Amino acid sequence: MPVKNVQPLNSAQNCDKALLVSSLLSKMTLQEKIGQMSQFNNDAIKLATSIKNGCVGSVINEVDRDTINKLQRIATQESRLGIPLLIGRDVIHGFNTIFPIPLGQAASWSTEVVETCATIAAIEAANNGVNWTFAPMIDISRDPRWGRIAESLGEDPYLCSALGCAMVKGFQGEKLSDNTSIAACAKHFAGYGASESGRDYNTTNIPENELRNVYLPPFKALADAGVSTFMASFSDLNGVPVTGNSWLLSDILREEWQYTGMVVSDWESIPQLITHGFCIDRESAAFEACRAGIDMEMASNTYAVNLPSLIKNEQVNPDQLDMMVTRILNLKFDLGLFETSYTESTSTLERLNSFHLDAAKKAATKSCVLLKNNKKILPLSKTQITSLAVIGPLADDGYEQLGTWVFDAKPNQSITCLNAIKDYVGDSVEVKFSKGLTTSRSNNQAGFPEATQLAASADIAVLILGEEAILSGEAHCRSNINLPGCQEQLINAVHQTGTPIVLVIMAGRPITLEKILSKVDAVLFAWHPGTMGGPAITELLFGEECPSGKLPVTFPRTLGQIPLYYNQKNTGRPPSDATFVDISDIKVRAAQTSLGMTSTHLDTHFSPLFPFGFGLSYTKFEYKDIHINRRVITMGDRLKITAIICNIGHYDAEEVVQLYIRDLIGSVTRPVKELKGFQRIYIPAGQSQQVVFEIHTDELAFYNRQMKLKTEPGLFNAWIGSNSNTKLKTEFEIVLRQDELLT
Ligand code: BGC
Repeated sequence: MPVKNVQPLNSAQNCDKALLVSSLLSKMTLQEKIGQMSQFNNDAIKLATSIKNGCVGSVINEVDRDTINKLQRIATQESRLGIPLLIGRDVIHGFNTIFPIPLGQAASWSTEVVETCATIAAIEAANNGVNWTFAPMIDISRDPRWGRIAESLGEDPYLCSALGCAMVKGFQGEKLSDNTSIAACAKHFAGYGASESGRDYNTTNIPENELRNVYLPPFKALADAGVSTFMASFSDLNGVPVTGNSWLLSDILREEWQYTGMVVSDWESIPQLITHGFCIDRESAAFEACRAGIDMEMASNTYAVNLPSLIKNEQVNPDQLDMMVTRILNLKFDLGLFETSYTESTSTLERLNSFHLDAAKKAATKSCVLLKNNKKILPLSKTQITSLAVIGPLADDGYEQLGTWVFDAKPNQSITCLNAIKDYVGDSVEVKFSKGLTTSRSNNQAGFPEATQLAASADIAVLILGEEAILSGEAHCRSNINLPGCQEQLINAVHQTGTPIVLVIMAGRPITLEKILSKVDAVLFAWHPGTMGGPAITELLFGEECPSGKLPVTFPRTLGQIPLYYNQKNTGRPPSDATFVDISDIKVRAAQTSLGMTSTHLDTHFSPLFPFGFGLSYTKFEYKDIHINRRVITMGDRLKITAIICNIGHYDAEEVVQLYIRDLIGSVTRPVKELKGFQRIYIPAGQSQQVVFEIHTDELAFYNRQMKLKTEPGLFNAWIGSNSNTKLKTEFEIVLRQDELLT
C-alpha cells in the first residue's frame, strides 16, 4: 500500500482543494510558480537539486519506482513547500502488457474493450509511480500515410469520441486519487491528423467549420467527460502554431468550453515557435505560449528562463500565471499526491498476470478484421489439414507485433503467431516455418525458394506479413502504403505454388491491398495486436473465436485516392456506377467522349477497397425490418430506430451494428453519411435480435455558417447496417416546435 509522506502540508490534507491550493499559492515565490509550470526529462537524478529548489513541477520518462520515490521524497520532504511531482509517461496502449495499438482497439468498436485496456495500463503504470499518461490521442485521422494514425482511434468523430471517453474512464478510474488511476491527456489539440501529405508535424489548414464539425468534437467530448489534461499540437493551424494559438487554447477551450483542466505543450514545442517562424526568440516564444494558455512546458526550459523577466516587465500578468499554477496544483490535489506521492509495489499485483493477459487476448481478438474469406477457407480445422506452412517476417517476432510506443513492454513475453499456432495444433498438424524475408522492408528475395517450397508441400500457407513496428508512429510516415519491401512478390511467389493462402497482416495503418487481393484466399487484418497477438490470431484462424472487428478507417484501393473517408460531402456531381468511366474504356483520340463528368479518378474505381465499418464474420448476419417510431419528430424530442438482425449462419458470433444518418439539406452541406450509434451484440446461430437506437434531436446538431451548434429542421435518412456502405434505409423529418415556429 502507498505510504503517507510526513510533510507539513499533510496537516491540510482534509481541507478542501481551493483552500489548500490558494494557501500554497500565497506562499510561493515566482521561481517556485514557474517551477511548477516546467516539466523536465533530464537524467532524473540530476534533477534532484532543481526539485529541491522547487524548480520542477513534473518529470517525464522516469519509470523506475525507486527513482520516482526518491524524487517524490525530495519534492515533498526537502523542497520548501513540499509539492509533489507529476510523473508523465506515454502509456499509449499498455504499459508492460501491450494491447493492440489504439487504431486496432478502435477496430473492436467496443467501449468495454478500450476501457479495460486503459484500466490495466493504468494499474501497471501507477504501480511504477507514473501518475500521468499522454493519451488518448483523439486526432481524427483521414490520411493513412501519417504514421500516427496508428495511435489514433480512426477517421470518425463519433467513434473517436465514444472510444476516447472510454479510454479516459479506464485511465482515470472511479477517482483520480485511487492508487490505480492515472491522469489522462487529450491530445493533440487540434487538427494534427490533417498534416499535409500525411507528413508528421506538417502544416494543417482546416476551415473553421470543418474544424468544429470534424476535428474538435472528440476534444469537446473528452473535456465534458472530465479528462484531466490537454496537450497542444505541434502543428501550425491555419497559420498560427497551436502552441501559440490563443484562439484555440483560450477562446475555444477555456471560454467556449469552460475547460478547467491543465494544458501541457508538446515536446519542446514552445521553442519550436521560433522554427515555425512565429517568434523571433525564446523569450517571445515563452510569451506567446503563455498568452495562448500553455500551463506547463514539456521538456524545454523556455518558461523557466524567460517567464521571470516577462513578469518583471509586466508582459505576463501575474494573475494569469497564478491561474496556470492553480490548474497544475489542482491536478496534483485530484491525484491525491498531497496525501500519497510515494508508490510501494502492491504485492497482490503481479504485472502481466493472467487477468491482464486474458484482457490483452480478448482485445486483440475483437480488433482483428476479416477482410476476405474466399470459399470460406477460414476457419481452418486441425482435423482437416495435415500440414501448414507459416511464412513471413512477422510470424515469429515478439517485438514487431507490439507496434509503436511500447517503451515499457517486455517483448520476450509476447506470444507470437508461430508459437501459438504450434501450441494449438499440437501433433495433429505439421507446422513448418520460413521467414521468407528478413524484415518487412527487405527487398532481398533469397528466402523465397525455401518459403515457396514449404508452401508447395503444405495444405495451407499462412502468410504473416505487414509492417514492422518502426514503420508507423511518430515521425514514421510513408509516401506509399503498400506492403513494404518485396512482400507483394513473396505473395505472388507463394500464389504460384497453388497452395491456398491465408494472409494475416500486422500493420500500423491501412495498407493498399488491391493488387494482391486476388492472389490470396483470406485476409485477416490484425493491426499490431500486442503481447497476446499470437493466441488471438490463432483462435480466430481456427474458429475458436469468430472475427468481429470492423474498420475504424477507410481502406483505399490506391494511394492516389487519399484522402478517402466515408463521411465525405456529396459534391454537385457525385460519382455513380452508371456514369463511371474506366481508363481502359476511353477511346483513342476521343476528345468529344463524355468521361462521366463526375467526381472520380479515371484509373481507379471511386469506391474504397473496404469501407469504414467493414468486417466479415464466419457467420452471416441478415439485417431487416428497419423501423422508426415516428416519421415526423419535433425538435427537442427523441426518436427510436430499430432493426432486426438475424444470425443466419452456423456460428454464434458478435456483430457491431451501426447506425448512420444523413441530413439531406443543411445551411452548410452535410456528409453523405454520419455514424450516430453503434452496438456490439452477441447473437447465437439461428437467432435474431432487435436492436434499438434512440437519438435526441440535439445529437443531430452541427456547426452552421454562424459557427453555432444547431439542429436544423428537415428531412433525414437513417440506415442500420454492418458497415458504412449499408443500404437498409428509412427516413424521418424534424419539424420545429410550435413556439419556434412563431419566433
Ligand atoms: C509527442 C507526444 C508525446 C510526447 C512525450 C511528443 O513528441 O508528440 O504525443 O506525448 O512526445 O513523449
